[in-house]
Amino acid sequence: MTTVMKKLLINSKLVNEGEVKEVDVLIEGERILRIDSGIAASLANEVIDLEGRHILPGLIDDQVHFREPGLTHKGSIATESRAAICGGVTSILEMPNTSPPTTDKVALEKKLKRAEGRSFANYAFYLGATNDNLEEIKRIALGEACGIKVFMGASTGNMLVDDPQVLEKIFTESPLLIATHCEDSPTIWANEESFRKRFGEDVPMEAHPEIRSAEACYKSSSLAVDLAKQCGTRLHVLHLSTARELELFEPGPISEKSITAEVCTHHLWFDQSRYKDLGSLIKCNPAIKSSVDRDGLIRGVCDDLIDVIATDHAPHTLDEKKQTYFKAPAGLPLVQHSLQVLLQLYHEERLSLERIVQKSAHNPALLFQIAERGFVREGYFADLVVVDLCKPQQITAESLIYKCGWSPFEGERFSSSIHMTILNGDVVFREGVSTEEPKGRRLEFKKL
Ligand code: DOR
Repeated sequence: MTTVMKKLLINSKLVNEGEVKEVDVLIEGERILRIDSGIAASLANEVIDLEGRHILPGLIDDQVHFREPGLTHKGSIATESRAAICGGVTSILEMPNTSPPTTDKVALEKKLKRAEGRSFANYAFYLGATNDNLEEIKRIALGEACGIKVFMGASTGNMLVDDPQVLEKIFTESPLLIATHCEDSPTIWANEESFRKRFGEDVPMEAHPEIRSAEACYKSSSLAVDLAKQCGTRLHVLHLSTARELELFEPGPISEKSITAEVCTHHLWFDQSRYKDLGSLIKCNPAIKSSVDRDGLIRGVCDDLIDVIATDHAPHTLDEKKQTYFKAPAGLPLVQHSLQVLLQLYHEERLSLERIVQKSAHNPALLFQIAERGFVREGYFADLVVVDLCKPQQITAESLIYKCGWSPFEGERFSSSIHMTILNGDVVFREGVSTEEPKGRRLEFKKL
């Protein structure tokens, strides 16, 4: 018996490679076969008229925490990746601060096994650096991990790398891109001490941006950039949170850079005044800073000083979050709504659709050398998201997919909604309903 290859034809406005165009996209099996105008419906065995909605390449989120192994009461690869596809994120790069942490090849292989057949999004994992795993880092090849995560500031998990000689060696000898969390821990510890003296254990959440201060960010980010220049490192500085850090980066296309920067959704959306009403729900590292910082970061995206937009999706349970300042963990769940937040910035005329696609799909693919994804191109995998710019959505607790069951956006009314997600050629999310079958694949990488 011969099986007929599925051929799906969709037509709409495509946002891709710097332009918005009315086109037809013919998908055959898992890949894009043709992008053209006037493709005959007879060439397909299914036609979906998207009625003027916009098609974007599926987002590639280069920073998520899905909590496996060891922290599955907060989230799992299955639950959080399902939330990702509901938000139009088709590929994720996941972080190593799990329990135990992913700091050697064996742990990486185990994580890859865990994801097989359980991830709703395409996936790859970082290898975490420690003060003593240089030999593991040196042995890792592209594809086994997507990059090396270095916590140059302490955060969730105990993964601080603070030995200057070790840092220099990692920056010199890593065969893969280094992605850094930059916050100077001694500065933060001193701030914590002074707030503890004033308030005891009852430090108000509003103090978070003063404790995890702009100075702590700048000190650590500038060290990372200096070290990368000295050692010739391929450096990606994660989650910039201050306008001042922008002065460390050069404008220009990502293909010409060896030092790049990322910003996350929450730092583009909230400002520190929201610690008053949202409290520990938006406690995160680095902290959310002032509205001047937020505006500066948006400008940094538009001026190409910032190359990638991601989430740092980091779920914790509400019970954990309800604790006092020092005990409440940092991090918030974001991956289900990151695209809607960016589209809101589009509605506010702060980001163009082309810019959103460049920073959250094209650039992560180029930066990490992800094979045949991140662009809508003939021959590439059909990872697509269809958004409805005219259909508002109010975020309710019932609509959340996260294991932790809460979102900092509950009650928010976004002007756009996610209509459909296509992953490897399959419709995996449509009008609020996601597939029961995890169809995510392990990402492949290729040297460009
Ligand atoms: O706020 C954060 N949460 N920042 C991080 O660096 C880690 C993350 C987590 O894993 O909870």
